[in-house]
Amino acid sequence: MNSILSNYKFDFEKFFLILMKKEFLDFLCCPICNSQFSLHALDESNGKIKTGSLACKSKKHTHIFKIENFIPRFVRSPKYADSFGLQWNKFDKTQLDNKLFNESELRWDSEIGWNKEDLNNKTIIEFGSGAGRFIDLVSKRGADLAVGVDVTSAVDAAQESFKDRDNVFFIQADIFNPPIKRNYFDFGYSIGVLHHTPDPELAFRILTSLLNHKGQIGVSLYEIALFERPNRNSLKQSTIELLWAINLWRVEFFRVFTTRLPKKIMIIYCLYFVPFLHYLNKIPFLRYLRYFSPSTCYRKMPVDWSMCDTFDTYATEIAHMYRHKDIFLWFMKSNIQKIIVHNSIPGWVSLTGFISCSEEINYKRYIVNAPKLKSIN
Ligand SMILES: C[S@@+](CC[C@H](N)C(=O)[O-])C[C@H]1O[C@@H](n2cnc3c(N)ncnc32)[C@H](O)[C@@H]1O
Ligand SMILES: [Zn+2]
Repeated sequence: MNSILSNYKFDFEKFFLILMKKEFLDFLCCPICNSQFSLHALDESNGKIKTGSLACKSKKHTHIFKIENFIPRFVRSPKYADSFGLQWNKFDKTQLDNKLFNESELRWDSEIGWNKEDLNNKTIIEFGSGAGRFIDLVSKRGADLAVGVDVTSAVDAAQESFKDRDNVFFIQADIFNPPIKRNYFDFGYSIGVLHHTPDPELAFRILTSLLNHKGQIGVSLYEIALFERPNRNSLKQSTIELLWAINLWRVEFFRVFTTRLPKKIMIIYCLYFVPFLHYLNKIPFLRYLRYFSPSTCYRKMPVDWSMCDTFDTYATEIAHMYRHKDIFLWFMKSNIQKIIVHNSIPGWVSLTGFISCSEEINYKRYIVNAPKLKSIN
């Protein structure tokens, strides 16, 4: 009986191995010539390819890309994104949900909102997966395949955290030249990423091009101002708004210096000085002293969140900010349907929509007063 069972297990594993290889090749294509890849596996472990290479089947050239540590590698990180490799390898588990905190789930539900029913058995791609906090969530919500694309060594940290998930893949690639077949995925999203790139709207359009005609897209970007002005103005509100504007100015002032510092100095600052500011921030009145130093500090989150987000705010080279109507226009120009503007927490502009749908909805009526659109081609 025992031997029958062990034979059965062996066959199942072999079958699974074939399945994983096929899936891998199913959605990848050469980022240079768009051809199919053939796979040369050197080392396999638990049904996944640990090391090897992908060679494209182009007639004129062969483009070869390495697979290292289970991750196909298509690029090295560009300078503007370098800080993120360091950030997510130092704070690899900080923002992953655990028994005490489900911040990622709360953010997902308020910014994107796709639930188990939506994601069950679907193929999903994330642009800029970082340490994998949202890949964690979609893979647990029943995704058939959850692919995290990131240009930095953040993929190594994420791979380590989710190496036991059979529906998760990470690839190290540039979202401006993704090695992904067009119209393949059912869902595509990007949270907290596009505003850190040189051309956020182009990255958005590239993401839409990877989704099939029944696909859904979701993005969440920095909001231009965190201050929520109530409907009725008053001197008190204007004063609070002024203080808020000064705070925004303070952040940009510090960033002039901190973005130019070696990233290792910034990491040391975040690891050893920010904890002091984090606890100072809990003391009434004295807490305002922390504003004289670069810091993003939380009163209700653990100290490593303050360390990680101070690095994120001050070491990251590019940061754009948007209003809801800016992103609504991106969706309009890409002909996205059933656009939902989510009521996410202040600081985030979050929209989702369908690549196309049977219901004919003409959202153009909502932008009667919009500025003339530039051609998107
Ligand atoms: C602020 S992190 C957000 C990570 C994750 N989405 C989260 O919310 O935790 C931004 C991520 O985008 C990645 N990124 C920036 N530019 C990219 C590009 N051109 N291609 C792929 N990933 C990029 C960075 O490496 C980084 O991991
Ligand atoms: Zn090629």
